[in-house]
Amino acid sequence: MNKSDILYLNPNYLIRHDETRSLLWARDDPRPVYAYTNNFHTFTHPYYAELLALFNGGNSIENVLSQSHLGQVCGEKIQDFIEKITENKTFYGTECNGTKFIFPKNLLVHKKENEEIKSQNGSTDFSFQELDFQTQKLNFPLYITYMVNTVCYTDCIYCYADCRERKKRQIPLERIMLLLDEIERHPLLDFVIMGGEFFLEEHWEQILARLHTLGLFPTISTKIPISESIIRKLRRLDVNKIQLSLDTLNPALMSRLLKVNGERYLHDMKRTFALLKEYGMTIKINTVITRYNDSIDELKHLLDFLSDYQIDSVSVIPAGYSLYKPLDYLPSKESVRKIKEYVGNVKTNYNFVLSMTSEIPKEQIEGCSAQKQKFFNERALCTGNLWQAYIMPNGDVTFCEGTMSHPAFVSGNICEKSFGEIWKTEMPHLLKRENYKNSVCGSCKDFEDCHTQKGVCWKYIVQGYGEENLYYPDPRCPKAPIVINKYY
Ligand SMILES: C[S@@+](CC[C@H](N)C(=O)[O-])C[C@H]1O[C@@H](n2cnc3c(N)ncnc32)[C@H](O)[C@@H]1O
Ligand code: SF4
Ligand code: SF4
Repeated sequence: MNKSDILYLNPNYLIRHDETRSLLWARDDPRPVYAYTNNFHTFTHPYYAELLALFNGGNSIENVLSQSHLGQVCGEKIQDFIEKITENKTFYGTECNGTKFIFPKNLLVHKKENEEIKSQNGSTDFSFQELDFQTQKLNFPLYITYMVNTVCYTDCIYCYADCRERKKRQIPLERIMLLLDEIERHPLLDFVIMGGEFFLEEHWEQILARLHTLGLFPTISTKIPISESIIRKLRRLDVNKIQLSLDTLNPALMSRLLKVNGERYLHDMKRTFALLKEYGMTIKINTVITRYNDSIDELKHLLDFLSDYQIDSVSVIPAGYSLYKPLDYLPSKESVRKIKEYVGNVKTNYNFVLSMTSEIPKEQIEGCSAQKQKFFNERALCTGNLWQAYIMPNGDVTFCEGTMSHPAFVSGNICEKSFGEIWKTEMPHLLKRENYKNSVCGSCKDFEDCHTQKGVCWKYIVQGYGEENLYYPDPRCPKAPIVINKYY
């Protein structure tokens, strides 16, 4: 490797400073140009982060050595390190002041000839007062979901979102722009726009344009038959992908599921498909399966129709639990099993990626103690309030879409304070054993570890035992009582 070589940080990794440490996180990319280590995330020393951030496609190794703290202090020795993390086939580990640091595969890559490099957004300030590689909660999240409004074009019988009160955007636009300014200083991995319906927000173009300047390109999900004028505006913003939620092509079923005039809605949606094709837009499809549209013939009809358009993927999703709707729409386990088998059999017949999301395995909640223990020990880390935040239409900041408006999870409101300040608000009531005295958690020897390491799933607790039983155990825990609501 020559000192004049230009390397750059593999775009599938994000480097961000986080006050007392820096973050090195993999970005989820279904079609990566460069190989990367999926799901990789680690805290790294700000000196390493500074060095990596300087590999922005414009600097030679020599430039990076002269501009970085490590280059200035360690000189040639750092060139060895750079070689170890360049197009590396596997992880590389090192130690700095007694702390071990790990680097994922293919971290730095050689710039390909004629390759245009999008520089990663982010501050070049990696200064720190003290170091902390232990605390799991980030000083600013990496994932934010914003539920813009609760107004919709349809009234879906299975909707899990809290749209009981139909309201337009309640957060003043200036506040949203202030939030986006904060995000500019703390780049995110993903910003999801939820609704309601984003296209029923009068300033949607302005919000989307600002997100683009931050390197955030959320795919908007909609059930609105979108007009040519909206599609033109999207194209002007360089958007070439959209997500449509389409559950059936049967007008009677459509009327039942979305409470619309099914004939007219389908007619308008078909026009939307034709327009999107004309404008070269790629479409992602979400198809929710309820007990009303759980027929394989109906699904086949829908998939065959979709194969005439530029569809990138179709996700078939068994309708999940809603806290806000009567649950008679839930599909039976047997029909979900049959549809899953069908999807598995036909997925190679189509020119799009066809997949079906898995349900929560029944054994996780109903299994014997040993089965439950295994699932519970292997549960994924709950990243709500550690890495991710959810902003409600009224500006309340909460953990995830599952906990929504429950006051116990609201750490503040962005109409009153900056997002960063709210994010740092402690929520001690969730860790106070006294609050759990009516639950088995109150006397559990694993209480601290359970709540501070992987965490419990608050969504499952609220769904399984109701909003009033917040301090019950995670239903997947072997010590948990039988759930009141069968949400799985
Ligand atoms: C909550 S909606 C918001 C965006 C927009 N209103 C829409 O429907 O596309 C996001 C996605 O969740 C899906 N969805 C809503 N309720 C669901 C449920 N109970 N189970 C599974 N998916 C659901 C919708 O069909 C849609 O694809
Ligand atoms: S699924 Fe989407 S369109 Fe339907 S009610 Fe929920 S938010 Fe509105
Ligand atoms: S969820 Fe289970 S393991 Fe966790 S504190 Fe409660 S009883 Fe203990």
